[in-house]
Amino acid sequence: MALPPPAPTSTCLVTGASSGIGADIARSLGARGYGVTLVARRAERLEALARELRAPRRVRVETVACDLGDADARQRMSAEVEERGLTVEVLVNNAGFGSAGRFQELDPAREIEMVRVNVEAVVDLCGRYVPEMARRGRGAVLNVASTAAFQPLPRQATYAASKAFVLAFTDALHEDLAGTGVTATTLCPGPVKTEFISTAGLRWDDMPGFIWTDSARVAEEGVTGMERGRRVVVPGPLNRASALGGQHAPRGLLLRVAGKVYPAG
Ligand SMILES: NC(=O)c1ccc[n+]([C@@H]2O[C@H](COP(=O)([O-])OP(=O)(O)OC[C@H]3O[C@@H](n4cnc5c(N)ncnc54)[C@H](OP(=O)(O)O)[C@@H]3O)[C@@H](O)[C@H]2O)c1
Repeated sequence: MALPPPAPTSTCLVTGASSGIGADIARSLGARGYGVTLVARRAERLEALARELRAPRRVRVETVACDLGDADARQRMSAEVEERGLTVEVLVNNAGFGSAGRFQELDPAREIEMVRVNVEAVVDLCGRYVPEMARRGRGAVLNVASTAAFQPLPRQATYAASKAFVLAFTDALHEDLAGTGVTATTLCPGPVKTEFISTAGLRWDDMPGFIWTDSARVAEEGVTGMERGRRVVVPGPLNRASALGGQHAPRGLLLRVAGKVYPAG
């Protein structure tokens, strides 16, 4: 199953494109000749990536600054995309952030904000674009979750639960869309060295090299999986093993082990 072919008035909307995995997903799509619309809060970062992407391929690159945790801002962003005459044929919900620490010690407002960005924005943007894709009979969605989606994580309670939502939602969406020509794929990376780590306050400096996956590789595997209409993509054999364990080990045991060995904060 291929993605809809690139066209001057169609776009791949990528959220969280101002850094890390989202920027690399935009690079992977741009390298295939797709026009992209880059969305995040930091406009100057989006502009810098837009210049980088336009240079070699002359693809149409748009930027829209938006706080995805704000419902009104999401409305303004999608109105802006429409005003620019763009049809969203590919939607990549990648924006997200985490936190680190026992829930009772974290800032409750920040945890709620996390649910807005990691969960509410994903459902909102799918609600805005997926029905139109289904009517057109083509399109693709790539929702970025995490290996944290496969089991609860002490000291990352809200984050892991938010990603479990994204995975369960996208699995069901994948099935709902069967036969429509539209696909939905979840990308579940393990640890990746991006700004995510410092934003979350994770102290992972001493983590061994083998646990990390390269951001560009994660992005490329995600885009390839979406092109193939895969339901779930977990980059890297270690992460696939951890996903299996997370799904099949008894939950009480998992929680105890994760609480001891998972270096959350
Ligand atoms: N790095 C990892 O270890 C890892 C592992 C598994 C899954 N993931 C997931 O991968 C995705 C990308 O993370 P990353 O590792 O690339 O981290 P990152 O470099 O920190 O990128 C996060 C992106 O999300 C955007 N974002 C955050 N809050 C936003 C908001 N309120 N409105 C709009 N955009 C917002 C940021 O842009 P602005 O700050 O400019 O708004 C940035 O572009 C996330 O969903 C994350 O949960 C990461």
